[in-house]
Amino acid sequence: MSIWRVSGGKKLYGDIKIQGSKNAVLPIMAAAIITGCETELINCPRLSDVEAAMSILRYLGCKAERDGDTVYIDSRGMNRTDIPHDLMREMRSSVIFLGAILARAHKAELSYPGGCELGPRPIDLHLEALRSLGAEINEQGGSLTCRDNGLKGTGINLSFPSVGATENAMLAACGAEGETIITNAAREPDIVDLQVYLSKLGASVNGAGTSTVTISGFMPQKQVGHRVMTDRIASATALCCAATTGGSVTLKSVDPADFETVTSALENMGCDIERKSNSVRITVSNRLCSPKPVVTRPYPGFPTDAQPQLMAACLKAKGTSVFTENILDNRYRHVQELCRMGADISIVGRVAVVTGVEELLGAQVSATDLRGGAALVAAALGAKGETTIYDTGHIARGYEEFDKMLMSLGADIRYEA
Ligand code: EPZ
Repeated sequence: MSIWRVSGGKKLYGDIKIQGSKNAVLPIMAAAIITGCETELINCPRLSDVEAAMSILRYLGCKAERDGDTVYIDSRGMNRTDIPHDLMREMRSSVIFLGAILARAHKAELSYPGGCELGPRPIDLHLEALRSLGAEINEQGGSLTCRDNGLKGTGINLSFPSVGATENAMLAACGAEGETIITNAAREPDIVDLQVYLSKLGASVNGAGTSTVTISGFMPQKQVGHRVMTDRIASATALCCAATTGGSVTLKSVDPADFETVTSALENMGCDIERKSNSVRITVSNRLCSPKPVVTRPYPGFPTDAQPQLMAACLKAKGTSVFTENILDNRYRHVQELCRMGADISIVGRVAVVTGVEELLGAQVSATDLRGGAALVAAALGAKGETTIYDTGHIARGYEEFDKMLMSLGADIRYEA
């Protein structure tokens, strides 16, 4: 079990380049099997979730190799349509391979996905969308056996703008005859990056970023090169770390619009923010104030994946900060760990109330999930004394060398395997 020892109280200063996006690259890696082709993914982050996706690709008979920040996928040799339980359990995004395998081979066998324990995360909307495209899906004992006699384009109205269900429907629709129109689709920037990749792959796909996505036809290409977008949640996390410690940090090669809801919340707390076309600088010199109430919503609302990190930035802010978590049922697992550091947080249902304290003290804490783990690091950087963080493997699922990035800004972090 990997452990981090964080000595807090050091302000952060400097420029950092943010990694490629986990939540954009994972569905793209699944999409790379829709047709037999070669894909070059540049700016592909080094994450355990990406490794998990590469293992699935290799299991399916594809080649998947990394060279620096580029991953090469050759899906011409795909010769299987099943994914074993142990690979599915690794991460939630493994379920996105279902739409891609059906589009390619019109049959698939896999089990329910795993991933962070953030409460019940059903896939009913995924299966509903695939069934409306003509897939027959038999669910038994946690396994899914799927067949279709040729997918047919259709109208898919999602009852909730699920990111994963939108992506699965887009991939399957690339293998369908005729036009598919997805309404109430998720609008996350990751979906736009997927559309860019699918267009290069030969799909006629439009509307990503809006609530209506249309897929009409597919002219398979043999080779595709794609630069993965920058990770908007890693960007938001870096800003929240600077807000807990004070100092001045510039994020390079980012699109400020992708995480504007987080940036404006920090500005509302008293952080000085300078936005340029492809960079954001945060400067913090005084004690912050509590933000307006934070309510998580699907994009362009405030992202649930930045809720724990912003909460960490509110722990020492003057006043009371109120969070309402609307997306995931069990996304306050980091709270009890933060309270070990002296934070004052009370939870009633989906609402968490943070009362700002003068100081936090180093403690022994455990990462409970990916974003909760990042919040513990942010809080530890702003705490007095040393914090020991256990189970930091969760953090490696979504952050590339997070400790080294923070140390480049002056943080004092020691890693123990
Ligand atoms: C994506 O997960 C992200 N993961 C999550 O980020 C993120 O928290 C989530 O979107 C919401 O923004 C990736 O992109 C890889 P959803 P996903 O389907 O696709 C319910 C991180 O930290 N729902 O939009 O699984 C579901 O239970 C991760 O990087 C159904 O009820 O999210 C949840 O409450 C954690 N039935 C809500 O919708 C379904 O079939 C949002 O889920 C599908 C979803």
